[in-house]
Amino acid sequence: MSLDIQQIRADFPILDRKVHGKPLIYLDNAATSQTPMSVVNEISRLYTTEKANVHRGVHCMSQEATASMEASREKVRGFINAESVQEIIFTSGTTEALNLVASSYGALLKEGDEVILTQMEHHSNIVPWQLLQNRRGIVIKVVPVLDDGTLDLDTYHTLFTDRTRVVSVCHASNVLGTVNPIAEMAEYAHSRGAVFCCDGAQGVPHTKVDMKALGVDFYAFSAHKMYGPCGVGVLYGRREILQKMPPYQGGGEMIGHVSFKGTTWAELPYKFEAGTPDFVDIAALSKAIDYMEMLGIDNIATYENELLEYAAARIREIKDIRIFGTAPHKCAVLSFLIGDAHHYDTGILLDRLGIAVRTGHHCAQPLMERFGIEGTVRASFAVYNTREEIDTFIKALRRVAEMLG
Ligand code: ALA
Repeated sequence: MSLDIQQIRADFPILDRKVHGKPLIYLDNAATSQTPMSVVNEISRLYTTEKANVHRGVHCMSQEATASMEASREKVRGFINAESVQEIIFTSGTTEALNLVASSYGALLKEGDEVILTQMEHHSNIVPWQLLQNRRGIVIKVVPVLDDGTLDLDTYHTLFTDRTRVVSVCHASNVLGTVNPIAEMAEYAHSRGAVFCCDGAQGVPHTKVDMKALGVDFYAFSAHKMYGPCGVGVLYGRREILQKMPPYQGGGEMIGHVSFKGTTWAELPYKFEAGTPDFVDIAALSKAIDYMEMLGIDNIATYENELLEYAAARIREIKDIRIFGTAPHKCAVLSFLIGDAHHYDTGILLDRLGIAVRTGHHCAQPLMERFGIEGTVRASFAVYNTREEIDTFIKALRRVAEMLG
């Protein structure tokens, strides 16, 4: 099925705004996507008719709010094909989900145990493991990135020892767009007795994600990058593993019984959800999933790949362009530099022309070091972007290249 992009754009009124007097061209979707009116309306409905704390009240509104939140949990379970709602933990975002894994699963690790990461990880999949390293003396090993932006899988296999306990890898790189072979990597990690955690922040918005097919033990993602509200993330965790893990934070709702003689924990998933959750945005996440499913995840992926291929071909028309990330299997992310022009200057000039891109190290400084650069300019696409916008972007880049060249 081909998508009606103009009809889709009508669901996102923000795309009609102007920036510096120019029509907005929003190409910063890997940072955050825009939100359709169905999600905005649901947030408004929840605030105007149903705002009450969840899991705590006998009163009607509390029951309704609880039902909306738990319906969203079931929606997420189906969306990612998890076995049980007990495996769906709501967090504030991918960062908190990864911190939860490093902190709580990490509490089961001993000095000298090894964790394998990759050179293309976002800081949120590096720093929590370094904090664990400081606390527990674990050893971090790193899979290198090859020149085309793919992982060096031969080296990956050689990093395992009998002390390897965890592998944590992004589904897709937020800088290079490389989509990693997660199912194969997870299978190998399991064959060596390690658990596999996946940072899916750049996976879920662009591709069908199936926990059973991927075979991962943990999978983390954010609602705001998949047309959903800010402030909500999801951690999928395999039930048998979550059961063994200590709580991440203490507080209300995560307990069975509290006493100064000793406290017991609530059942999954609540053991990992201390305090009042962002129940409005959690409930509204279900509308973002409805939206993606209405368009069809495969249709979104096909359309975005066409946009990426078109943009990648056209950007090569720019003199002295340097593209970072040319893996055969990519999501809709295009990182580049024009000659020696500073990424920041390019971003500022594009902004004056109404074009929003991200510039800088993209919270992936080890990857920048790998390529010997300080930062890139990154254009990232979503289902509402058009070829016409890419044409305008390329025209703007030509002007920028002339000005900075
Ligand atoms: N991780 C987000 C990005 O890549 C913020 O822009």
